[in-house]
Amino acid sequence: MAYLVAANWKMNKTNAESLEYVNIFKELYKEYLPNIEVMIAPSFTALEAVGLALNNTTIKLGAQNMYFEEKGAFTGEVSPVMLKELNVEYVILGHSERRHIFGEKDEIVNKKVLSTIKHGLRPIICVGETLEERELGKTLSVVERQIRAAISGIEREVYLVDIAYEPVWAIGTGVNATPEQAQEVHKFIRELLNSVSRGNDKNTRIIYGGSVNEKNARELIKEKDIEGFLVGTASLYPEKFYKIITECLEV
Ligand code: 13P
Repeated sequence: MAYLVAANWKMNKTNAESLEYVNIFKELYKEYLPNIEVMIAPSFTALEAVGLALNNTTIKLGAQNMYFEEKGAFTGEVSPVMLKELNVEYVILGHSERRHIFGEKDEIVNKKVLSTIKHGLRPIICVGETLEERELGKTLSVVERQIRAAISGIEREVYLVDIAYEPVWAIGTGVNATPEQAQEVHKFIRELLNSVSRGNDKNTRIIYGGSVNEKNARELIKEKDIEGFLVGTASLYPEKFYKIITECLEV
């Protein structure tokens, strides 16, 4: 499976700014890089324009969230059907900002995961412990709980999802997990996925997120079970994002 290197722009960039970025990025990313899949998740308001600008490229389009129903009285929400129509392929689900700022619980994340799969979208399920949980030695149990809940009902079809390990304490802080810290959790996740899916996890990428930048990407990607990145802050700059991608070549 190719590495997955994904940009999560979060609530940044207007439509015009998004297009400006894509134009610069397309100039940098002219040549298809083997074994690396690149995805950009702009804000909802820029999805259509960015999607059109990415037409005829290998760059995939992602959404940062989604509601699990197809339509109806859910003010402010966006449905899988709406995303499909815009050629969205990936949906980031259960991001720590969704969980901690907007109170999204495991059960809701699971409903969203099931809905993406029903509609042929590929979820990137985010999991990760807070600093307090890490200090209490609960990292692996928290990650296990989040994963088991998120994939409940599709355990044997786990190849349809990707997982992003994003320790909450590393997000937007400039403090990334060390390669060893990340590898420990990625290895645990790989074993968990392998066991719950009974070996059907080969196409599931486990990617790392949390203060990834062009300087630390290479050391992180060298780890055996790190299969790509979910990048926030550094992905807002086309040159930095492109450098992170090239750091994943030939490791
Ligand atoms: P930063 O790269 O800004 O730490 O954000 C990581 C993240 O949350 C990606 O989803």
